[in-house]
Amino acid sequence: MEVVILDSPADVGTHVANTIETLLTSSDAPVLGLATGSSPLPVYHELIARHRAGSISFEHARAFLLDEYIGIEEGSPQSYRHFIEHELTKHIDLPAEALAGPRLLPDAGTRAGYDYERRIREAGGIDLQLLGIGTDGHIGFNEPSSSLASRTRVKTLMGATRRDNARFFAGDVDAVPKHVITQGIGTILDARHLILIATGAAKAEIVSLAVEGPVTSMVPASALQLHPHATVVLDEPAASQLALHDYYREMFELKPERIGL
Ligand code: F6R
Repeated sequence: MEVVILDSPADVGTHVANTIETLLTSSDAPVLGLATGSSPLPVYHELIARHRAGSISFEHARAFLLDEYIGIEEGSPQSYRHFIEHELTKHIDLPAEALAGPRLLPDAGTRAGYDYERRIREAGGIDLQLLGIGTDGHIGFNEPSSSLASRTRVKTLMGATRRDNARFFAGDVDAVPKHVITQGIGTILDARHLILIATGAAKAEIVSLAVEGPVTSMVPASALQLHPHATVVLDEPAASQLALHDYYREMFELKPERIGL
């Protein structure tokens, strides 16, 4: 795993936006996996600024969301589709039909997850998947004990996650849905490049467990250790409990590409 430690969330935004810009300019049909929540916001702000400056276009891109709440209206302000439209896609030139999210269609049952997986496959798979990490270690909404081979399906949220997300529901934890539909860990691991973003001291402990602890379904983000191209991008507070902190900094400075090897 590549661990990149930067000084601030704004630096995290610039670094990750650079990688996305490279994908957008080198591929005829780039496929992005988008996360919601606070962690990717500096990236989205930077992408919007670059689009407005004319340096990047999403005209030929496709985008897939990681997850969605069940039981709140599509398009309601708390839905993840609304979140991503508001924070990113309405400010860029991604065609509306190029954005997809998992949905629990009436009577779809277990087919809903299967249909979403098919749509991802038909788009050629995800080139670059953005991820945040929950304080309990979840990626997407794969809570602790999720199978590391899981596919898109309905999950029940843990109390800790519902409390963390109550801030998007005017602080009312009872308003946070108990169920979600989420890409599985196996689905996430199929993406060609994973970028996990974490900022702030509240993520420090779980980041150290995910990056330096054992691979275990009790810390779903530890599954990134199994991926051949996973990058973890952190600010200093989120990196503060990493045993190999100084080595990661040095490895980044001495990266073979950066020094012409
Ligand atoms: C969001 C998602 C979640 C969040 C995680 C961290 O689509 O899948 O895994 O990435 O809950 O959320 P923030 O970034 O708000 O701390």
